[in-house]
Amino acid sequence: MKVLVTRKIPNHFIEQLKEVAEVKMHDDTLKPMQRKALIEESRSADVVITMMSDKIDQDYMDQCENLKAIINLAVGFDNIDVKYADEKGIYVCNTPDVLTETTAELGFTLMLVTARRIIEAAELVQQGEWQGWEPYMMAGKDVYRKSVGIYGMGSIGTALAKRCHAFDMDIMYHTRSRHEDAERDYNAKHVTFEEILQANYVVCTAPLTSETEDMFDEKAFKQMKNDAIFINIGRGGHVVEQDLLEAIQTGEIAAAGLDVLRKEPIEAGHPFLNEKQIVILPHIGSATVETRDAMIQLCVDNAKKVLNGEKPLTSVKA
Ligand code: GLV
Ligand code: GLV
Repeated sequence: MKVLVTRKIPNHFIEQLKEVAEVKMHDDTLKPMQRKALIEESRSADVVITMMSDKIDQDYMDQCENLKAIINLAVGFDNIDVKYADEKGIYVCNTPDVLTETTAELGFTLMLVTARRIIEAAELVQQGEWQGWEPYMMAGKDVYRKSVGIYGMGSIGTALAKRCHAFDMDIMYHTRSRHEDAERDYNAKHVTFEEILQANYVVCTAPLTSETEDMFDEKAFKQMKNDAIFINIGRGGHVVEQDLLEAIQTGEIAAAGLDVLRKEPIEAGHPFLNEKQIVILPHIGSATVETRDAMIQLCVDNAKKVLNGEKPLTSVKA
């Protein structure tokens, strides 16, 4: 049995895999595997542990006939053609649950950071421009007791609602199905997409699918309040970036906090970089040492199950 790991992970995880299989690891922490090498190395693999930056499409799967499981080091799996994998009888696994609280914490952090202008304020001090106290210097907005509209109420959305509830916020959410737990525990109200756009804070936590792509466009931003703050911890593909830029520049909305972009890493000269009201983080939603350890361990556990001829622990369906 053979396993390919497409990015460098700590050795003690590799040792666990070596107990049951031959292991090949791409020995680079920063750079993804080139497509050609990815396919070459995957051809003889039974299991591949992939990153969000690996595009696992039909062409890839057609060339890797041995493959039994694709195990993605992420909760999202929009980089993988899950429907085609299903057809070919290949398991697709992700890392749910273990990253829920950590990712919600980052989403809530972005709400606080944008509302209180934390990045701008720290930069002002660092640049030697703090000249003294002024009544409205770096005055931001409150978060507590404001309204929040959550788009996507999976486990991450629900964990975000828990934090918002602790700040006495008025919580609305929009998803296809109702989440009675969040309604009971956090007084969250299930409303239409248009209604969540009326909130002071609009937060996208949804997975990226053909239904959720481009939801945040000119029409959506125009419906938001002029002092609204938009947060995205879902995927860059949820947002029409040019429309968000215009919404910020014309004062249609007040600020944005983004952990994800359509193209990552951001390209030099991206117009968002000139806007103080847009805070961009380098996709670190689940990036704590504890959580990354837990995510990798879950990938290893999934791989070992499949290599032992059993069902994986956390597989997704198309
Ligand atoms: C991160 O964005 C993930 O999907 O885990
Ligand atoms: C999706 O990422 C969710 O759990 O809300």
